[in-house]
Amino acid sequence: MQSELRKKLLDAFAENRDQYLSGQHLADIVGCSRTAVWKHIEELRKEGFELEAVRRKGYRIVKIPEKVSQDEIRLGLNTIFIGQNIHYQESVESTQKIAHQLGLENASEGTVVIAEEQLSGRGRMQRHWHSPKSTGVWMSIILRPKLPIPKAPQLTLLTAVAVVQAIEECTGLTPEIKWPNDILINGKKVTGILTELQAEADTIHSVIIGIGINVNQQLQDFPEELRSIATSLSIEKGELFNRADLIRSLFSKLEKLYLLYLEKDFSPVKLLWESYAVSIGKMINARTLSGNIYGKAIGITEDGVLLIKDNDGKIHQIYSADIELTE
Ligand code: BTN
Repeated sequence: MQSELRKKLLDAFAENRDQYLSGQHLADIVGCSRTAVWKHIEELRKEGFELEAVRRKGYRIVKIPEKVSQDEIRLGLNTIFIGQNIHYQESVESTQKIAHQLGLENASEGTVVIAEEQLSGRGRMQRHWHSPKSTGVWMSIILRPKLPIPKAPQLTLLTAVAVVQAIEECTGLTPEIKWPNDILINGKKVTGILTELQAEADTIHSVIIGIGINVNQQLQDFPEELRSIATSLSIEKGELFNRADLIRSLFSKLEKLYLLYLEKDFSPVKLLWESYAVSIGKMINARTLSGNIYGKAIGITEDGVLLIKDNDGKIHQIYSADIELTE
């Protein structure tokens, strides 16, 4: 209930970004007393919001906190379920770990775990994901689609499209996708996606989608060994970005695509994915667990499996690999 009120209050501020809203007006919108409005305003101030109060005019947000707070994300969030329930943490081992726990505890679909910092961020193929404090978006989203297990990788591709669209919207940069889920700008990785399943027999209980976006790091913030292969939105654009805006945009894009996918299946998402894919039509080397496959990436199947045509004309289906563009 309290959080419902807070959401209405933040929505009112978001819809009237530079205007003063009187205590009475806010109380009417939110449906509570002026004293309750005042209490919420005090809470927001404690979270780092700067709210100017002017006699006879009312309140206005002048500054939002540097740290990403649950309330800042809610400021203008227009989703139905993704991000409506946020578990925000200062410092965690991995948001994936917490999301898995919440998944088992029946957290609602769209629940998100976000951390300012991860001490043991997990990447694909047992790699470490560098997640320094307050510079990136480190989060895990719980989805509960009623899908057969083999379709789960499609959600990774869908998420990659949503991330690209959100980055485009918030920064004007145009990222590309390297199969299956690396997001690159100028050939360097800016985002990684890790999809993990909680499933039993052939039923998916939940899909935990981990997303790591390098947002405001500068080159020196990356460990030496990553500097030639990783980048951040800030490095690419030369400015700092508001992480809450990006998160909100991502929630919105992801929800739209996910609903489209549940209604129309993978085809529309596949088309979008292909329009952003950098690897299709190129010569690539795929390092799989059973060896290297070299050839031309000719597309993805309806299930999101990568197809490579080798020099003998044989077509290989690649379910999981690290790929390297060789041209
Ligand atoms: C990759 O290897 O490309 C995937 C990286 C995924 C990183 C994100 S950050 C948030 C979530 N929590 C984790 O521990 N990993 C994912």
